[in-house]
Amino acid sequence: MNPSVANLPIQLVIFGGTGDLARRKLVPAVARLTRAGLPEARIQVVGVGRRDWSDAAFRTTLRDAFPPHEASAFDAIAQDVHYRSADVADVESLETLRTELDALAGRRETGRLCYLALRPGLFGTAVALLRAAGIVHRHDHEGGGFRRVVVEKPFGHDLASARALNDAVHRELDEHQVLRIDHYLGKETVRNLLGLRFHNAVFEPVWNRHHVELVQITVAETIGVEQGRAGYYDGTGAMRDVVQNHVLQLLALVAMEPPSSLDADAVRNQKVEVLRALSPLDPADAPRLGVRARYGPAIAGGTTLRGYLDEEGVAPDSTTETFVAVRAEIDNWRWRGVPFLLRHGKRMPKRFTEVQVQFRMPPIQLFNQPDGMSAAAYRRALSDGSLCEIRPNVLTIGIQPDERIGLSFGVKRPGPEMLMAQAALEFDYRAHFGVEPADAYERLLLDAINGDATLFLRADEIEASWRYCDSVLAAWREPGAVPLHEYPAGTWGPEAADRLFQGCEGGWSRG
Ligand code: BG6
Repeated sequence: MNPSVANLPIQLVIFGGTGDLARRKLVPAVARLTRAGLPEARIQVVGVGRRDWSDAAFRTTLRDAFPPHEASAFDAIAQDVHYRSADVADVESLETLRTELDALAGRRETGRLCYLALRPGLFGTAVALLRAAGIVHRHDHEGGGFRRVVVEKPFGHDLASARALNDAVHRELDEHQVLRIDHYLGKETVRNLLGLRFHNAVFEPVWNRHHVELVQITVAETIGVEQGRAGYYDGTGAMRDVVQNHVLQLLALVAMEPPSSLDADAVRNQKVEVLRALSPLDPADAPRLGVRARYGPAIAGGTTLRGYLDEEGVAPDSTTETFVAVRAEIDNWRWRGVPFLLRHGKRMPKRFTEVQVQFRMPPIQLFNQPDGMSAAAYRRALSDGSLCEIRPNVLTIGIQPDERIGLSFGVKRPGPEMLMAQAALEFDYRAHFGVEPADAYERLLLDAINGDATLFLRADEIEASWRYCDSVLAAWREPGAVPLHEYPAGTWGPEAADRLFQGCEGGWSRG
């Protein structure tokens, strides 16, 4: 952090201030940071929306969203929380807002963070008009003030729109003033991927195609498309909503080369290299390497679960996917030939996000192979489950809700025979440190205030992710090329997803 901004009062201006994100995530994050004495300076929150609300009405709505036992954390910041009405698409209304924001800040230099919790279609206009109205400007104030813009996902709808948006933003602001959020990067366990890989020399020698058979990354959710979200989701789908950002960010952290330092650009340079090395999906391979599906109606545990088409606001002829599984390949020296199996679905039986690195089996099986059985028959028996003692070593990194790391390995069973059994080394974040991991938004807000862009996405990262996703989406657009499967709500997705393991040991993790 630049020392001159360490004590600078911060003005967090939330555009879309009456929305869910401000209420559920941003203001609680400010309250918790303040309680922890972070940052040193005070944070003034200004919610901005088109509705004509008073400060008092805004504060009441925010306070009501706190669990009763935490409401005192809100009370401690309440006098620094304000509401002003303005329209981000109207420059005159933003000019008035600028005067109001300056008045609220007082005469002192202020670090101003404009948080765009808006409909994505408004991002480009908002940035241009915020600059035209003088709410942000390209250069930091003399004396250490700053003007930064935080942009929520989704950043673009495809590569072309993401590029156009990056161009529009760069016409107004320098790249270092733009903080594109992917909230996964603020999660402790995601940040620990860097720690695990680059603080522990034991992993590096085996972290490559010679020793890793496959990597699987899952973001499984039990929720369906929540009320009020279909307008966004039906035009978006699982690939754009979660794979393009959260899943590919996990992949980048797992597969990147060691950075030369933890400097934001050093880390992001390595991530972008991996994303650029993702082989675009060839349409001819699309049916073999990718599966898409949507949840259908089902009865689970005595409850009727609606199918996606019955969700409020979903078009009756929708072809939007709520589940995607793809077998991606990273075409570089370290990873060539190692499948990265990526899966995300809504309305699955269990909520979990996880990375599994599966190591190769030993070249020769000395154990558990019954006398007289050929090696080939033995391997077949292992994969069809008729013999199941020997499994590859798997490093499991639980991102949420079980924040853990586990390494499975084989041990000799007690007894006269030389038969092996499965065991595991386990580490659990909460049990080990005795604390709840902080919410991602606390970390991200603090970093945005401190100007640390490591956990935010750079323009080229976003574009590289879209390049890969576009190749999958284009293959899906070919009529009849890749079917849209249906899976009963509350199940693990279509069986077709299992074939992505072809030629490899194992199957999809169930968390
Ligand atoms: C959001 C998606 O980015 O991530 C949602 O838009 C999804 O559809 C959510 O539910 C998942 O985030 P988390 O932190 O609950 O795993």
